[in-house]
Amino acid sequence: MSITKEAELTGMKKASEAVACTLREMRNYAQPGMTTKQLDNYGAKILMDFGARSAPRLTYGFPGCTCISVNNEFCHGIPSDKKLLKEGDLVNIDVSAELDGFWSDNGGSFVLGEDIHRHQKLVDASKQILHKAIHNIKGGVRISDIGHLMETEARKRGYRVIKNLTGHGIGRSLHEEPGDIANYRDRFNPERFKKNAVVAIETFISTASTYAETLNDGWTMIGNKGGFMAQHEHTIVVTDGEPVILTAMNGIWN
Ligand code: CO
Ligand code: CO
Repeated sequence: MSITKEAELTGMKKASEAVACTLREMRNYAQPGMTTKQLDNYGAKILMDFGARSAPRLTYGFPGCTCISVNNEFCHGIPSDKKLLKEGDLVNIDVSAELDGFWSDNGGSFVLGEDIHRHQKLVDASKQILHKAIHNIKGGVRISDIGHLMETEARKRGYRVIKNLTGHGIGRSLHEEPGDIANYRDRFNPERFKKNAVVAIETFISTASTYAETLNDGWTMIGNKGGFMAQHEHTIVVTDGEPVILTAMNGIWN
């Protein structure tokens, strides 16, 4: 969506506060020995207290409130009472929701407890790349130039990017135009970021794979060449200068 009046900005801020706070609290709550279903239930309660509704459930009938992906799972992991979190796991939580007709999206990968499997470098790379990408976005900037920046920064650090996962416009629904904010230079995308547009910017930084494939459960995505992936996501408003980071309070850069 494009912000045209104050009430729309207020609505987006409220929806963003709900998803950002939920993501932050879920990250703080996660512990080894907990199931991903327990973690999802905890997040569901927070979203409910805000009066927000799970976006993936509303939009796609996702069997969970939030997406929780662990280790070789890249994204859209289904919360399960059979999946136990362990020390050193690479965990991704993605929280998106609707509140009073406004939709916001955010996510982040982190290492649970001690980094015994050495995932922190990948997580830090993803965080840094999201930060750099967002601070280069303003009205008139080509979407493909931001994609190029993200892939270049990933390569510099020895990583790859996933080509078939993208950021997206958001606001009055979960996925809006522009639909493909890729992590690489898409030569066929002439679009530019527009001032006042609300967009979800997300990284998909991987150790080996360049495509994500869906498992037989119909949801969970893993890499075409295996390995690990880190994702960080903020919902922002594009301006003439620094973007307004609506989901800043999720603390994913801390
Ligand atoms: Co998103
Ligand atoms: Co998301």
